[in-house]
Amino acid sequence: MYYSDDLIEEIRSRNDIVDVISGYVKLQRKGSSWFGLCPFHNEKSPSFSVSRAKQMYYCFGCGKGGNVFTFLMEYENFTFVEAVRYLAERAGVALPSQEETPEQKRAADLRTKLLEINKTAAKYFYYLLNSSHGASAMEYLSNTRRLSKETIVRFGLGYSDKFSNDLYQYLKKQGWSDELLKESGLVTFDERRGPSDKFWNRVMFPIMDANSRVVGFGGRVMGEGNPKYLNSPETKIFDKSRNLYGLNFARASRRPNFILCEGYLDVISMHQAGFTNAVASLGTAFTSPHASLIKRYTDEVLLAYDSDDAGVRAALRAIPILKEAGLKSKVIHMQPYKDPDEFIQNLGTEAFEERIRQAENSFMFEISVLEKNYDFNDPQGKTDFFSAAAQKLLEFPQELERNNYIEALARKYGIAFKDLQKLVNSYGARVAYSPDERYTAVRTSKTDRPPKDDAVLTSQKLLLTWLVKDTALFEKISPYIGPDDFSEPVYHQTARLLFDEYKTRGTVTPARIISLFEDKDDQAKAAQLFNTTIHEEDPSAHEKAVNDTVIRILKHSLDRRSKQVRDLQELQDIIRQKAALQHLHISL
Ligand code: UTP
Ligand code: MN
Repeated sequence: MYYSDDLIEEIRSRNDIVDVISGYVKLQRKGSSWFGLCPFHNEKSPSFSVSRAKQMYYCFGCGKGGNVFTFLMEYENFTFVEAVRYLAERAGVALPSQEETPEQKRAADLRTKLLEINKTAAKYFYYLLNSSHGASAMEYLSNTRRLSKETIVRFGLGYSDKFSNDLYQYLKKQGWSDELLKESGLVTFDERRGPSDKFWNRVMFPIMDANSRVVGFGGRVMGEGNPKYLNSPETKIFDKSRNLYGLNFARASRRPNFILCEGYLDVISMHQAGFTNAVASLGTAFTSPHASLIKRYTDEVLLAYDSDDAGVRAALRAIPILKEAGLKSKVIHMQPYKDPDEFIQNLGTEAFEERIRQAENSFMFEISVLEKNYDFNDPQGKTDFFSAAAQKLLEFPQELERNNYIEALARKYGIAFKDLQKLVNSYGARVAYSPDERYTAVRTSKTDRPPKDDAVLTSQKLLLTWLVKDTALFEKISPYIGPDDFSEPVYHQTARLLFDEYKTRGTVTPARIISLFEDKDDQAKAAQLFNTTIHEEDPSAHEKAVNDTVIRILKHSLDRRSKQVRDLQELQDIIRQKAALQHLHISL
């Protein structure tokens, strides 16, 4: 569902940012801005500023910033559309009603009904757990698994009775059809035996989506038994690769990262111990939709998988998926315990905090697993290990980062930095010279873009900042430079929006421009442009700075164009323009 830019702008302008943020952060007026303690990082003195004139916020401490939409996306973890809807309602702006096809409407109705059925079932299981029928289940959860009353309530744990179809009977009495109950996955229908409940005599874990709606269940036998866990099948409301157990709580956790573990009870134990940022992918493999889901809330994942071989393998599979999604990762070691639940139950919170502090860089973890395949007493084994490690180091496209890892490995395995670097370069060269010899590790992920020219990016950013501060600059520079000369995608788009707005209205409205980005990282990047403080220089120095900056951007832009020329004439044109740069002078 997309709303028009005009509508979004109307909603933005009807929600004063100081009013909205005051609902979350205590703000105090200082000059033309409002200041408070930043809700996005820990601080003792206020560096979080909100400007009524600009309708923007910016934290001088952590660099987070944006408009009123960005704030809600950051604070409430809303998507852009959710933020728009929320603020539309707050300001009483009517949104166009969604045009649904009859097909879409049927699907939406079905989902609503399935959610209703799941909610009813969760309440039913919860009721049973707290009744005399659930005595042994309660004893299992409270004593064997040591869960507090509060934890049991928070996670809505329950019990499914010993009868073969009591849930079916109960749901039938509420008027749900057999067909819907079949779709819910809670009841199975057998031609001879008729309907029976999927879960019997198990402790029940409702699986909730990010908005705390019950989308499925897991049920564990009490004690030994096979299968240990039974889970709802995938349904119209339950897509296993897009759900993480515990996400509804973790999303609101104030911890700086997520802890990813394997099981229901790992998540629950961790939350009980205060690690409210724990989530689990529950028996199914961790996939890239899981990673994108996490990326909405955090940039770093600590892996807390089981310490057995299966857990190590699962971690090795998850690491590249996390990396691909742009997430940093580390590995928490659980030894001598099997999983986070056992660890916490035995050693407690403090010890786990310590393990978090000691979490291993995931690349070093991968290498230490790799190491086990080689015999270091055999010279050939040792050589093979270093070759494998060198090839793996090519995963880092940036030289500085790669050198840091070469250094770490050299130190750990007692080899000279230069020797390992040479080995890495020999593989790097091979990649460059023989395009058909594929090293998939090299530059496959979108986060591993080749290093950018920082000076050019800084120039692009600086020029945009100057333009916003002093719109007279538009007239002066536009004969020479335009939006397409900005190569960085966010800057390019911002430049286009700024130039357009200046041309049509003679002003620029930074807060409006920010909402034209849907991604909150992009919004923050744009916001930063509009908040960078510039040291006031003397006017002649400023003129030189503007000229140097424009020239640097243009030179880079021409270099880029020359790589994509289609004909000789275009190339000659570029060469002419490049030569002309030497004489370019803009007087302010
Ligand atoms: P584990 O076997 O490691 O169990 O499975 P666990 O979480 O440590 O459980 P406890 O502590 O013994 O009670 C990890 C996860 O894999 C899924 C479940 O989501 C479980 O939490 N699983 C496991 C199943 O779906 N079915 C099974 O039969 C076993
Ligand atoms: Mn366990």
